[in-house]
Amino acid sequence: MTEVGIDAIEIWTGKLKLDLPNTFAPAKGEDPEKYTKGLGLNASSFPDTYEDIVTMGANAAHRLMEHEGLEPEDIGRIDVATESSFDNSKPVSTYIAGCLERVYDGKFSHANKGERKFACLAGTQSIDDAYNWIKAGRNRGRSALVIATDTALYARNDPGEATQGAGAVAMLISEDPELVTLSTEQGYGSADETDFLKPNQQFPSVDGKRSVQVYLARMREALQDFESVAGRVTVEDFAYGPFHTPFPGMVRKAALFAYRHMTRDTAIEDDLAEEIGRQPREEAFDDDEAYEEALREYMDGLKRTDAYQEWYGRVIDPTLTISRNVGNWYTGSVHLARASALRTAFEEGRDLAGERLMVGSYGSGAQAEIHAETVQDTWEGKIADLTIDQQIEDRYDLSYEEYERVHDVHNHDVDSDVEGEDVEGFTAPAEEFVFDGWGRMGERKYRFAE
Ligand code: HMG
Repeated sequence: MTEVGIDAIEIWTGKLKLDLPNTFAPAKGEDPEKYTKGLGLNASSFPDTYEDIVTMGANAAHRLMEHEGLEPEDIGRIDVATESSFDNSKPVSTYIAGCLERVYDGKFSHANKGERKFACLAGTQSIDDAYNWIKAGRNRGRSALVIATDTALYARNDPGEATQGAGAVAMLISEDPELVTLSTEQGYGSADETDFLKPNQQFPSVDGKRSVQVYLARMREALQDFESVAGRVTVEDFAYGPFHTPFPGMVRKAALFAYRHMTRDTAIEDDLAEEIGRQPREEAFDDDEAYEEALREYMDGLKRTDAYQEWYGRVIDPTLTISRNVGNWYTGSVHLARASALRTAFEEGRDLAGERLMVGSYGSGAQAEIHAETVQDTWEGKIADLTIDQQIEDRYDLSYEEYERVHDVHNHDVDSDVEGEDVEGFTAPAEEFVFDGWGRMGERKYRFAE
């Protein structure tokens, strides 16, 4: 049977940095530890004035094609996942293909292009589409390019402002991939929810606290659905658990629930019983409130146990290192979490070949998806050259006033004509695609800056 999965990956961060504890928190009169300890974030990435979802996506894709020695004729499909699109008709993938055609001799005229939307879940759904296209035998030996690109900006003073971010992840989906194969088994948790949405508006309307509960509920359903097809999951089945990371504190909450679920009725629950008791069973309680209280108490104890902390430090924490420094990238976020884990394993010299990842994706509105991935023998060569650490290091560190200006530049309601023209960039582009003003029909134009 042909295996299909992710063959290669590239990451492009927005080139500006907003330091959350040192710049944002003092300006807001908040305790820096709300960011570092509470949300688990050190910094957000922002696009410079000449960057947007097209430039970041095209730059990630270009770098991936160069690294892999690909030409347009090798790519049969380009899918862009984004929730920051600026056009309700023309997909972002056409703009990105247009950029790439400036630097390659060949064209993408044979490639099927599209744009996928389901909040942050769309990147994983695009991988799914590519997987199905290849499995159906329609790819004629070609690979698919999946690009998750977002400028995750919130309105000023919205609580979500603390979790902003901007960047793109490009992934090559191929037969016999060299990084990870994807499981046939998938689990879903899906419901009509109104916790986070953008009804024809640039910045989201968010019920932040509720969105956290909806994330947890849909993830739980997805895990149960995954188990219904793949069998019971235990805490030792997976080397890493990359999850959608709107902010690391969200994953910290989800991981504790997942651990409780996976250890229920196992020797681990028995071993922990002496220290924190057994897990409360709903059927043993007469009223919901008492059950909820008992659960809270159990979870409080569980999170302090050595067993949980050892598992969290080994399986979950390594997935959060990039996110901690760049914020929420919406569609790209779970793919950053995977890259973060693999890069940690690479740096530690760990032999990961044949090990499995449990990947949990999520999009508001709302839907979660869980599948497994198996790391391939050739994985190290696909991770060794990632430059994300250097990119993070090289970002321009914004003052609060500069942040306000940049936020305005990218705000479609604040005289959008200034974008990329009147407001000077904070960094100098080199060997990359940049926004180059507006066309005759209101389209955005791009060029390759040498
Ligand atoms: P908030 O009101 O700014 O923050 O909203 P808070 O007061 O709830 O504090 C956050 C955490 O920091 C809390 O931790 C505090 O206790 C802690 P928790 O109790 O929850 O564990 N804290 C501190 N810790 C140490 N020292 C201190 C301190 N102060 C506070 N001094 C909220 C937070 C997440 C609601 C807000 O940022 C928000 O609305 N974010 C946007 C929505 C979001 O990210 N939701 C996540 C789930 S939905 C999702 O993932 C989908 C999404 O990616 C979109 C998509 O799918 O398209 C968003």
